[in-house]
Amino acid sequence: SVSSAFDFAPNLFPLSTTAQGYTALGAPSNPGLDPSNALSGASLEKNKSLTYLNGLSLVVGLIIGSGIFSSPSQVNKNAGSPGASLLVWLVAGILAWTGAASYAELGGAIPLNGGAQVYLSKIFGEWAGFLFTWCAVCVLKPGSAAIIAIIFGEYLVRAIIGADAVDASTWLNKAVALAGLVLVTLLNCVSTKLGTRSADVFMFMKFLALIGVTVIGIVVAATGFSYKGHASDDWKKQGWFEGTSNDVSNWAVALYAGLWAFDGWDNVNYVTAEFKNPTRDLPRVIHTSLPLVIGFYLLANISYFLVLPTAIIESSNTIAVAFGSQVFGPIGSLILALFVSGSCFGALNATTFTSGRLVYAAGKEGYLPAIFSTIGLGKSHRAIRLHTLNANPPKSRLKRFFISSFADPDAGFFFTPISAMALNAFLTSIYIAIGSFDTLVTFYGVAGYSFYFLAVLGLIILRVREPDLERPYKAWITTPIIFCCVSLFLLSRAVFAEPVQTLLVLVFMAVGLGVWFGWVGRRRKKEQGRFRHLENEGEEKGGWRFWKRWRR
Ligand code: ARG
Repeated sequence: SVSSAFDFAPNLFPLSTTAQGYTALGAPSNPGLDPSNALSGASLEKNKSLTYLNGLSLVVGLIIGSGIFSSPSQVNKNAGSPGASLLVWLVAGILAWTGAASYAELGGAIPLNGGAQVYLSKIFGEWAGFLFTWCAVCVLKPGSAAIIAIIFGEYLVRAIIGADAVDASTWLNKAVALAGLVLVTLLNCVSTKLGTRSADVFMFMKFLALIGVTVIGIVVAATGFSYKGHASDDWKKQGWFEGTSNDVSNWAVALYAGLWAFDGWDNVNYVTAEFKNPTRDLPRVIHTSLPLVIGFYLLANISYFLVLPTAIIESSNTIAVAFGSQVFGPIGSLILALFVSGSCFGALNATTFTSGRLVYAAGKEGYLPAIFSTIGLGKSHRAIRLHTLNANPPKSRLKRFFISSFADPDAGFFFTPISAMALNAFLTSIYIAIGSFDTLVTFYGVAGYSFYFLAVLGLIILRVREPDLERPYKAWITTPIIFCCVSLFLLSRAVFAEPVQTLLVLVFMAVGLGVWFGWVGRRRKKEQGRFRHLENEGEEKGGWRFWKRWRR
């Protein structure tokens, strides 16, 4: 059975492997086979055990992360007033909701692992899938890891040197962020077991922090608690919409920050293969989890506004620390700082795990140099295997316990995609070094929503092009249309709002296209010529032959 969000992360990967030979196996009838199962020796296919409530907690857990504890400052700065901020949060939530519903339809119509990569390949051609993978490797994965690491660093610094360290040096924050990244990467290189086992604890921490903030806010509102910064806060006398920005670009920037907190909705599909009854439960999960998250986020923001003066909300990314110190003093801020940094650590761990597999699969597919699709430490891991629980169980109970908690019993320590995770950590550390929360969130948003937009546009194209395709779940047609319009607005404003980040995203995409049309795509074509006689060998062959079948 399924115990944590972690069990699903593996489904992210376009290519699948078996425990024995690491051969490609990507047929739709095998939705559960993938590299990480190979690493853990288990097949998700056996696990058709997910119920509605499991799905609900998974999706909510995937979405809630660092964002609700860090984005409010940027949302508020750019929207200009509490009322406008709440509106931005609502719009961001609805956008995520329509996106999740659209992705659910895509996932049903194209029932393959790999998410956007597969949808884009099937609808627009393989170049689009490659471009997505390229940007996921270069921008989306390391960018989101950098954002989470930065928030982790800022909260942990507050936890260690106190809530008043609002002006703590950015370099100290970055150093702690980097240390967290290195630690998480090393842990994941040794083994993924520790992360898998601790995922539930981190999940618990973030729920507790979010529920804490919300409940406290309600209590505060009910008891008429008044805060120190009262006099500076004019909006409470003048109304919720005083100071609302009338620059559309500012609204776009605010939206990107809000969307960060809702990001992760695209992962909804990764759980479909595990539902006992996907046709009934998937829509139910989407249409309850997203409204639930939207409700939570709105309540949390209202809490922030009731407890804190807007000047403080706008001044830092560590809003939960300010919140805790305002209500409970130093103890409150310490507890919230620890909880949020713990939750970020868990999120960083999860994203490192999935990034490693994504890069690994991209290497297998021939999208990246083959060095990134190696497992473990090369030859030496054979030696390491001998020390594993199954091959050579140690006498000492303590040692057995240690190995079973940290290493894979079938494969031992370091049986992980180490070079792939090293690449991801390297790129992430560059983003940590040169970026900040504010700049990275827009950067990530522009890149991410370009592909979300393309995929959902693809849904509309697919409806026209292949109306009879079987769709277990069909979204209301206005859903993808709303999504496309709002994301088009967002993307078009980004150029004016944050030209540097937008340009950088465009450069990455241009380089990606260059790599495809100049190199990877050509090689792919040659291979297709060479193996043409094998074309109808059967679905289980996977790889490009399989892609060809699916591309029209
Ligand atoms: N919504 C999450 C947060 O607030 C971010 C999720 C990052 N996205 C992802 N696909 N890993 O932290």
